[in-house]
Formats: sequence, structure tokens, C-alpha cells
Amino acid sequence: MSKLVDRMNKRVAALSPSSILTFNQKISTIPDIVKLTLGEPDFNTPDHIKQAAINAINNNDSHYTNSRGTLGLRKAATNYLSKKYGVNYDPETQILMTAGATGAIYSALTAMLNPGDTVIIPTPIFPLYIPIAMLGGAKPIFIDTSDNGFILSPEKLAKVIEDNKETVKAVVLNYPTNPTGVTYHRGISKKLPMSFPSTIFLSSVMKSIVS
Ligand SMILES: Cc1ncc(COP(=O)(O)O)c(C=O)c1O
Repeated sequence: MSKLVDRMNKRVAALSPSSILTFNQKISTIPDIVKLTLGEPDFNTPDHIKQAAINAINNNDSHYTNSRGTLGLRKAATNYLSKKYGVNYDPETQILMTAGATGAIYSALTAMLNPGDTVIIPTPIFPLYIPIAMLGGAKPIFIDTSDNGFILSPEKLAKVIEDNKETVKAVVLNYPTNPTGVTYHRGISKKLPMSFPSTIFLSSVMKSIVS
């Protein structure tokens, strides 16, 4: 009889369990350690947020919404982005809510990748981008940043793009970078080559923690 794994989607079968989650599970039983593994805040959900969730359930505001998320929430997101970063988006057409960053990263990469594409991923990095690129049939190209203070240099990026210009579809910039915490300052990001027909996929999950 064939093994279950032989009957699975080949791209799924090729993936390994998340290294960061596996490591976190393994060390979590050690008593009294300070964990620097997952990006967990060291505080509980604030009371006003807990209360808003309780109120929503009590008011039966717990049914399907617009698939982009409620318009009120999308408007709140556009207000936040406008006040904090001075960028203006249309909440009706340009904002999409997901449950967590994983859903957003999955949706965005899946929407742009085709089999045979390549995705440039500077390392070390939060591993999530790698299986998502592979599920989309794309091949990750890693750029080791450890010889440059863990910062991706524009020169290195330009060379990798040039070497793979027929296939490269996206460059992942995770900033501030998990796990190293490095940030790309405006000066550096301005020097990055933008004149190629790929997408800069910016993931700044941790940004509000540092600025
Ligand atoms: C860079 C990065 N991307 C994605 C995630 C996953 O975020 P979420 O738990 O909101 O799906 C994390 C979580 O720590 C992260 O650090």
C-alpha cells in the first residue's frame, strides 16, 4: 500500500516542519529560561481589546464579514497608515485584512508566483517565506548577509538580480529583520535597485515594536 506522503501534493510533501516552531517546542520545557524564540510580546492582551472581543461576541457581531474585512476595520487601518507613515490608501479597494501576518504573506506571495519563478530571500530570516515560495512552485534564492552585519547590501542584491533576471519575481525584505533585528535605514533602501520588473515584498511585522 502506498504511503500517505506519496499521495500528498508534492510541494507540500517536500516541506519540513518549521525550524523555529520545532526549536521553540523543544526548549520550552526547560525551567526558568528567557525565551528569545517566537515574536511574543511580554505582556498579555490589553483589557480594552479583551473587552472589545467579549462585546463583539455578546452582540452577535461574529458572523461572516466582507471577505476583505469589515469596512470600519479597513478604514481604521488606512487612518493608522496615513497618520504614522503619511501614506494614503483607499480602504474600499487597497486594504485587505488577514488573521495574522502569515495569512497576508501567504496571500501576497501566492498571488504573484508561478512555477519556475525565483524569489530572492536574504538570510538569516524568519523561515515562513521559504515554504510559501515553494508552495507557489517558485525557487528561493538565498543571499547570506552574515558577512555584512546582517544587512543586505544593494551591490549584492543587484548582482543576484542580474544573475537571475529571467526568473526573479520578488525580493523579500523583512525589516526589522527577524531574527537579527537589523533595520534598513532610508539611505540604504534608497540605494536598492528598484528598476527591475519584480516586486519588492516588504514584510515589517515587527516595525511597530521598534518605531
Ligand atoms: C518576520 C515575521 N513574519 C511573519 C511572522 C508571523 O506572524 P503572525 O504570527 O502574525 O502570522 C512573524 C512572527 O514572529 C515574523 O517575525
